[in-house]
Amino acid sequence: MMRTNEVGETCTASATGATTPAGDAQPVYPHTMRLQRFLARAGVASRRGSEDLMTAGRVTVNGLVATELGTKVDVDRDHIEVDGIPVKLNQGAVYLMLYKPTGYLTTMSDPQERPCVADLVPRDRFPGLFPVGRLDRDTTGLLLFTTDGDLSQDLLHPSKHVYKTYQALVDGHLTDRDLEPLRRGIELDDGLCQPAICRIINAREAEAVAPQGIKHGTTAVEVIIREGRKNQVKRMLSKIHHPVIRLHRCNFAGLELEGVAKGSWRELTDREVQILKSGGIPPKQASSKRVAAPATNTASRTRHHGSHGSAPKRNTYRERYTG
Ligand code: URA
Repeated sequence: MMRTNEVGETCTASATGATTPAGDAQPVYPHTMRLQRFLARAGVASRRGSEDLMTAGRVTVNGLVATELGTKVDVDRDHIEVDGIPVKLNQGAVYLMLYKPTGYLTTMSDPQERPCVADLVPRDRFPGLFPVGRLDRDTTGLLLFTTDGDLSQDLLHPSKHVYKTYQALVDGHLTDRDLEPLRRGIELDDGLCQPAICRIINAREAEAVAPQGIKHGTTAVEVIIREGRKNQVKRMLSKIHHPVIRLHRCNFAGLELEGVAKGSWRELTDREVQILKSGGIPPKQASSKRVAAPATNTASRTRHHGSHGSAPKRNTYRERYTG
């Protein structure tokens, strides 16, 4: 733990509280950073949320409770815990995808103890794991998790605009022309949406939202957006008078739910992580640069969990954009 002593030298504080000048043995920079920054980068919480954790006395450094917001830590040497769970920085960050079923809140804890996505991912094995963005409780599909706070921030930042593809089963009969307002950019309560890419899809493509086929009086639609406002797809479709019955996210930034069953997770392949780090793949390029399915990627570090049936193998970007 780094502190500044009375004469202004930077010192390390050991678990016993003894301080030694930091400059004598190893260079401190860039191994030191403020504790709240460390926690945010490790994906524990936002910078502000991390400060709250510290002031609540939930963070320890080398066994000592660290409530002082100026506390600096040596990321290589100090042992940091939140609520007794060790927190590590990005080195060896974890990236995984969950096939979220309905009925789960996108949160790592719920005070009312309702089912939440934390129940479905290996949070004990990977401390600091958190979801990248959110899906509504009744929305199914691809939800990323990581311990990499920086990447998550990048993927969710409005300036980065990664593509997200949704399949929606909507009420009523909808034609391609009815989708025009979404393509132009529809006005919602919280402002104008960016133009969406959308089209009517058939029963085979819409398997995730209409497993028994598309019933009379309903229509299946694919909507691709780059923003991530609350209930955005549902609100967009309601605005054109076709409320969503079922919603499924099949693609996030070019990654698809291949090789992962509903309610299960797998680690991303190195290639998939690389795609996320380079800002994702836009829909048109996705067919030529498609991510290899993990089963054929021998270099990948995939782990599978659970077995509640298999994920639809059809309806990939290749099919959707190249026919
Ligand atoms: N848009 C929605 O309306 N809900 C989701 O869960 C995701 C996008």
